[in-house]
Amino acid sequence: MSRPDSPREGRLTGVGVGPGDPELLTTRALRVLHGADRVIAPTTALDAIGRAETIVRQAAPEVPIERLVFDMGASRQASHEAAAEQLLPALAAGDHVAFVTLGDPNVYSTFSSLVDALRRHVPDLSVETVPGIMAFQELASRAGVVVLDGTERLALVTALDGVADVARAIEDTEAAVVVYKGGRHLPEIARLLDKAGRSEGAVFGELLGLPGEQLKPVSEAGDQPATYLATVIVPPVRRERSDG
Ligand SMILES: C[S@@+](CC[C@H](N)C(=O)[O-])C[C@H]1O[C@@H](n2cnc3c(N)ncnc32)[C@H](O)[C@@H]1O
Repeated sequence: MSRPDSPREGRLTGVGVGPGDPELLTTRALRVLHGADRVIAPTTALDAIGRAETIVRQAAPEVPIERLVFDMGASRQASHEAAAEQLLPALAAGDHVAFVTLGDPNVYSTFSSLVDALRRHVPDLSVETVPGIMAFQELASRAGVVVLDGTERLALVTALDGVADVARAIEDTEAAVVVYKGGRHLPEIARLLDKAGRSEGAVFGELLGLPGEQLKPVSEAGDQPATYLATVIVPPVRRERSDG
C-alpha cells in the first residue's frame, strides 16, 4: 500500500466501447470513463475523430476526450512506440489514463500493442481492462443468429491478407466461424462458403451501429468487397432436431 506522502502511481485501463451503438457501452465502462484523470481515444490524425471517440461522445458527451495519433504511415511497431511515448508523462505524473477501444480491448485491439510498447518503458505498469461487447455479438443479435448451441465450437479468424484461415475453419462443420478484417475479401469468402455448403444462415454486418451500416445474408452481399469494419458469421451446420 502506498504511504499518503508517496507519489501516486499512474495506471492504465483499456475500456471496450462496443462496436458502434452507444447503447452498448457498459455501466462499468461509463464509471471508469467518468473516474479517469484522462480519457484517450486513438485516431489517425489530431483533427480526425476515431470510431471509439464517436461512440463515447454520444454515450457520455460530458467526458473530455484527448486524441492519440497512431501514424498509419509508420510501421506498426513505430506507430505504437510513438503513441506510447506520448502517454508516458501522464502515467509518470500518477494519472489514471483510460484508453477507449472498439469492441473488446483483449481481442484484436490496438490496446494490447500499446501496453507492450509502454511496458518496454515501464515494466511494472499497472494495467486493467473493461470488457466490451464485440462486433460479432452485435451482429448475431441483430441478425437473429444463434452462434453456438450444445457442444458446438467457435472459430474466430481474420482474413486481412487472404482467406486461407477461413477455408480451414469452415471444414469443421460443428464450428461457428466468425470472420474479422475480411471486408476486402468478401466476394472470395462468399464463394468459399457456397462451395463448402456453408452459405445457409451466414450473415454479413458492416459498420454496425455506425453511419452507413449494412446487414445482409452473405449470399446477397458477396458481389463486391466491403470495408475493413465488416464481420461475417457462419453458423454451424445443424441437423433438424428430432426432440422438439
Ligand atoms: C481491429 S479488430 C477490432 C475488434 C474489436 N476489438 C472487437 O472486440 O470486436 C477490427 C475488426 O472488428 C470487426 N468490427 C469492429 N467493429 C465493427 C463494426 N462496427 N461493424 C462490423 N465489424 C466490426 C471487423 O471485423 C473489423 O475488421
